[in-house]
Amino acid sequence: MIDARTKVCVIIGSPIEHSLSPQMHNAAYKALGINSEYVFIACQVEPKDLSSAIEGLRAMRVRGITCTIPHKVSVVTMLDHVEQTARDIGAVNTVVNDSGKLKGYNTDWLGIVTPLERRIKLKGKTVAVIGAGGAARAAVFGLRKKGANVLIYNRTKSKADILAKASNAQAKTMNEIEKIKEVDVIINTTPLGMKEHPASPIPKSVIQPHHIVFDIVYNPHQTMLLAYAKEKGAQTIHGYEMLLYQGTAQFEHYTGKKAPVEVMEETLKKQLNA
Ligand code: ATR
Repeated sequence: MIDARTKVCVIIGSPIEHSLSPQMHNAAYKALGINSEYVFIACQVEPKDLSSAIEGLRAMRVRGITCTIPHKVSVVTMLDHVEQTARDIGAVNTVVNDSGKLKGYNTDWLGIVTPLERRIKLKGKTVAVIGAGGAARAAVFGLRKKGANVLIYNRTKSKADILAKASNAQAKTMNEIEKIKEVDVIINTTPLGMKEHPASPIPKSVIQPHHIVFDIVYNPHQTMLLAYAKEKGAQTIHGYEMLLYQGTAQFEHYTGKKAPVEVMEETLKKQLNA
């Protein structure tokens, strides 16, 4: 039962009502029998209210503060300490409140790297990242950290150039998409493939059977890109795995306990009808 000793964790963002984090974390607390010790909720916070929300959460000793769109970048300057990887990425999605001291981490890169490492060794592999926005930054820095060579393909080349320079990766234009045939892994970080954008970021013709294709779009479960990859005999990784593994790392920051991966995975898949 929730009582006066229960520690609160919260996800803040706008919009927030579709977040799957509360179900995923609460299911994990239950599985470990710590659902009296921890509870995970969601709160809508507008950008203009972010700093007052953070100060309130700090004062109330709310244990974990998960930040999602649009707060991941602006929260960085409001914390007492930010780990180096989060600084490189330029975004924090995980804040641990240690008796009023706020420490910021980024676990989004683990959402990209962990599903891949469960399948292959990343060191020395060549990975093509499509997009150069916030999600791409987490992917690129994470992959570089693991020793992969990274090619960044983006609609706007100048954004790919900036990210490539910061991370020691290579920027490519969409005109060079044929070269993607030679890479080991392809990751889509653009919104193409979402329900509102039913499209593939790359043509089917460039996908090869030796590719691992990871689409971080999780709704729908089977995006056009993943359907193409399946047709071409490539290995696929669905977007929910990113949500899952950024979440398991976050769970460990908040509770200090090993995350029950299978329970969290089943919860997400059920929510997404996957
Ligand atoms: P996120 O934080 O989710 O990564 P973002 O920072 O807005 O979102 O980045 C979105 C990425 O998807 C960008 O790389 C964007 O390309 P541009 O730099 O050219 O804007 C890419 N993107 C968005 N819509 C796209 C589309 N219709 N076609 C191709 N790329 C698109």
